[in-house]
Amino acid sequence: MGAADVVTKPASGDGRMKAVTEPPQIGPGTNDTLSVTDNRTGTTYEIPIENGAVHATELRKIRSGPEDFGLVSYDPGFLNTAACRSAITYIDGDKGILRYRGYPIEEIAEKKTFLEIAYLVLNGEFPTRSQADAWVFEITHHTFLHENIKKFIDGFQHDAHPMGILLSTIGALSTFYPEAKKIFDADIRQKQIVRLIAKTPTIAAFAFRHAAGLPYVYPDNDLSYPGNFLNMLWKTTELKYTPDPALERALNVLFVLHADHEQNCSTSTMRVVGSSQTDPYSAAAAAVGALYGPLHGGANEQVVRMLQEIGSVKNIPEHIKRVKAGEFRLMGFGHRVYRNYDPRARIIKRVAEEVFSVTGRNPLIDIAIELEKIALDDDYFVSRKLYPNVDFYSGIIYQAMRFPVEMFPVLFAIGRMPGWLAQWQEGLLDAEQKIARPLQIYVGPKERHV
Ligand code: CMC
Repeated sequence: MGAADVVTKPASGDGRMKAVTEPPQIGPGTNDTLSVTDNRTGTTYEIPIENGAVHATELRKIRSGPEDFGLVSYDPGFLNTAACRSAITYIDGDKGILRYRGYPIEEIAEKKTFLEIAYLVLNGEFPTRSQADAWVFEITHHTFLHENIKKFIDGFQHDAHPMGILLSTIGALSTFYPEAKKIFDADIRQKQIVRLIAKTPTIAAFAFRHAAGLPYVYPDNDLSYPGNFLNMLWKTTELKYTPDPALERALNVLFVLHADHEQNCSTSTMRVVGSSQTDPYSAAAAAVGALYGPLHGGANEQVVRMLQEIGSVKNIPEHIKRVKAGEFRLMGFGHRVYRNYDPRARIIKRVAEEVFSVTGRNPLIDIAIELEKIALDDDYFVSRKLYPNVDFYSGIIYQAMRFPVEMFPVLFAIGRMPGWLAQWQEGLLDAEQKIARPLQIYVGPKERHV
């Protein structure tokens, strides 16, 4: 079964995705223009507006004279730049809306398996029964790692951060599957998509076992995707590991909530690296690197460290005071697109209680809930529209499930893999895409001579 049956990159204009901008819905026939007057020359330009956007290259036509390169837009951090058309994930940050392929996250997070969501994100529709069976079979039968990968993982220091191990091992997979370079062959591409989704939890679990000094546990094909992951992490002497259904379910929800989040830092990295037409393992390794940072997927680790440092509800006001003084940030708060409650945080907060019914209550949750209450009542956070994000509560659940903090971003990476791959594939097949190559505004010395 293939995510797409396109074998070669479509010719310009073919197979373009329909852009959906909502609300307001701006479709074909409702396009408009922008009139811009360049006060340097007095010339007025008509710039087409399409789907609520102007092509940045249109600005290039605005020149102060024949020698002028043309106007460019300057946007460090891409605050107001759309770099692609995408049909995968829709976010309305002001309203706190997140949808995968049109389905609201609240409707699917607790009803669908992670592999169904992965299929949806990659293919645009939920699988039929036979498609789902084939998909689960494929993933389940690609979870094993080449034995040489174990030697590779063995080489890491006992205290190596598992994100570093994950990043390197995913990159190393490209040497095991050299055919992966044929990215415009749909069957080969699909094979690598299956391998990456199937093998990422195995690498993650092996990284964890390596740090713990425990033997690696091989995948168990009888278990679900999250159930098998728990097996590879925690199995000891029992002949057959049986995951706790509540923890298996919680992990499934957490993976689903992380499956995609449109053009965030790691996904953009996946697209940018993929735009050079490298293999998906190299691009995914780069995406893991982007996710590792404390401002992105590393934030859940930082949240738990912060809550541990606060230590008690009575210390919260002092902590908030120092955040407001600019000494440090309130980790797990704020988001580039959500200027409202992150809908994923709301679901995670609910799942936390279910996990605690099995693991016992993590005392950090009380500090987190009180911290959230105080922050959401404080003008500093209210005026800047800073709300809890997905990382605020996820780390507390992971900790209750006995994951060491270093594993938190690794769990994020397992969940995000389908999104990275879907976005990578969408970019490859998009006739409008080119190798990513931003401009710069040169501010260095003019020509000079020794
Ligand atoms: N604590 C205190 N102040 C903050 C915070 C925070 N967590 N986040 C933003 N601000 C303030 C910031 O100081 C600035 O104030 P001022 O206007 O007075 O200078 C204002 O809010 C706007 O901040 P910004 O840095 O311009 O916002 P951004 O959109 O560039 O940053 C962010 C987004 C997520 C990097 C940021 O909110 C942050 O650092 N949060 C903490 C780290 C975190 O939780 N990251 C996880 C993000 S969600 C998971 C994911 O997708 O990776």
